[in-house]
Amino acid sequence: MHAIGPALLAAFIAAGPATAQEASLRWLTASAPIRTAPDEATPAGEVLVASPVHATGRIEDGRAEILVPGWTDAERRALFATAAPSVTLAEVPGGLTPRPAAADEAAPEGWSPVALRGWVDAGLLASDPADLWSAAFTLYRTRCTACHPRRVPGKYSMAEWQDYFRQMGPRTRLPQDDQYLIRAWLQHNADDAADLEAAVARIAAED
Ligand code: HEC
Repeated sequence: MHAIGPALLAAFIAAGPATAQEASLRWLTASAPIRTAPDEATPAGEVLVASPVHATGRIEDGRAEILVPGWTDAERRALFATAAPSVTLAEVPGGLTPRPAAADEAAPEGWSPVALRGWVDAGLLASDPADLWSAAFTLYRTRCTACHPRRVPGKYSMAEWQDYFRQMGPRTRLPQDDQYLIRAWLQHNADDAADLEAAVARIAAED
C-alpha cells in the first residue's frame, strides 16, 4: 500500500487539467431537439441520445447552449464524431454549415469539419454517463440475446455496429431512442473506440 501511495497522488495531480476541461462535457440522456435560439419554436435538428456535447455554460428559459464539434459528409445533413459515417451525433435536415479545415486537420475527400451550436432542454444533460451506460447494458443484455448469444462489443468496429443496427435495432422492437442508446454503448466499446474517445476529448476541450 505504502509503495503505491505517492504514485497515485502523482496520477491525480497529472489528471488535474483534463478534469477541469471535462467540467464542460455533457451527455444527452435522450435524443433532443436542438434550436438556434432558446425560444425558437422550430428545432433545427436533433442531437441523438448518449451523444457527448460541450456545454458553454449559458442557460436561458430552461435551455442550455451546447456546442457539438464533429464532421459532416457531402450531404451535410448529419454530424458525425469522426470523419467517417460510423457514429452519428446529430441530424440536421436543413443542412450544416462546414467551417474551413485547420492546417493540422486532415479532411478526407468529401468530409468537412463542422461545429453545431444550439440550445437543448437543460434537464437532458448529464455530466456523468454512468447511468446511461448501465441502462444501455441492461437493454443490450435483455434484448439482444432473444435470438442468439451476446455479441461481444469489442469484436466489431464502430462502423460495423452502425451497419448491423439497421437490422438488429428494429429486431429488438424497442423504441428508436432505446435502439440508439444500445448502439452508442456498443460503439463506445467497439474495437476502434479509441478514435471515439479522442473525439470526446476534443469536445470536452472545445471553447
Ligand atoms: C429477432 C431476433 C434477433 C434479435 C432481437 C437480435 N438479433 Fe442479431 N441476429 C439475428 C439473426 C437471425 C442473425 C443472423 C444474420 C441475419 O439474419 O442477419 C443475427 C446476426 C447478428 C450479428 C451479425 C454478426 C454475427 O456474429 O453473426 C450481430 C453483430 C448481431 N446480430 C447483433 C445483435 C444486437 C447487438 C442485437 C440487439 C440490438 C441483436 N443482434 C438482436 C437475430 C436477432
